[in-house]
Amino acid sequence: MKGDEALRRVATALADARAIVVLTGAGMSAASGVPTFRGAGGLWRTFRAEDLATPAAFARDPALVWEWYDWRRQQIAACAPNAGHEVLARWSAARDAMRVITQNVDGLHERAGTRHVRRLHGSIWRLRCVRGCPAGGSREELEVPLAPLPPRCECGAVLRPDVVWFGESLDPAVLDAAVHDAQRADVFLTVGTSSQVYPAAGLVPLAHAAGALVVEINPEPAASADAVDVRLTMGADQALVALDDLLRQNHAR
Ligand SMILES: NC(=O)c1ccc[n+]([C@@H]2O[C@H](COP(=O)([O-])OP(=O)(O)OC[C@H]3O[C@@H](n4cnc5c(N)ncnc54)[C@H](O)[C@@H]3O)[C@@H](O)[C@H]2O)c1
Ligand SMILES: [Zn+2]
Repeated sequence: MKGDEALRRVATALADARAIVVLTGAGMSAASGVPTFRGAGGLWRTFRAEDLATPAAFARDPALVWEWYDWRRQQIAACAPNAGHEVLARWSAARDAMRVITQNVDGLHERAGTRHVRRLHGSIWRLRCVRGCPAGGSREELEVPLAPLPPRCECGAVLRPDVVWFGESLDPAVLDAAVHDAQRADVFLTVGTSSQVYPAAGLVPLAHAAGALVVEINPEPAASADAVDVRLTMGADQALVALDDLLRQNHAR
């Protein structure tokens, strides 16, 4: 299928859909200037994300892991939602059954005003006590840079970023809700994700098996061909803006 034809097919499906479900990954925020893990800019000093975003790395050297998070928090603070985030925010305002499931921890969907965001991997803007203190142990902290590092809870223990690290489990309630969304999607868009991190990547075949039209938006196709009906090999912002334009033209006609 040629690019324009693929875009038109997806726009028609979106216009007819009751439930649109969108899964986003780091590529969603690439046009905002937030580096992906596996792309250029994915290294910090000499470390790979996979070596820092783990419970073992934090236990060994919390200050080092916090320096990396502080650097990422500063980068993200200087970025703004892109045109793709804004399209999803508009769709979510217009359609009650629309859901955005994100692997991103950057908060850019929320900053764009998107409703019903499910954060599979937590938020880089939240901190929580490693001892699990109920009071004062979990809070939003927007200040950048943070000092001193590592930040500490009122109880004296170290605070950690409230994100899901490699090897950790997702919040079961959030995952259940995302599974439910995937199963009742009419159109499922997987946007800017390398489809290598589970269980998030498993939502794509799940939606496909449940009958959704599955669309992958990624300049470098990543999801398994068995689970994808249409590929839009473009940047997330470019593809979402093009789809939104087609939807408006259809509506005006
Ligand atoms: N912005 C963020 O919050 C952020 C950034 C980096 C990593 N992460 C975390 O890293 C984990 C890694 O998984 P992942 O799949 O999200 O990221 P990833 O870095 O593994 O993959 C990014 C994907 O985005 C694609 N991509 C690059 N530029 C794009 C663009 N302009 N438009 C669309 N796609 C583009 C790449 O081809 C790649 O497939 C996630 O769990 C996530 O929590 C989050
Ligand atoms: Zn505490």
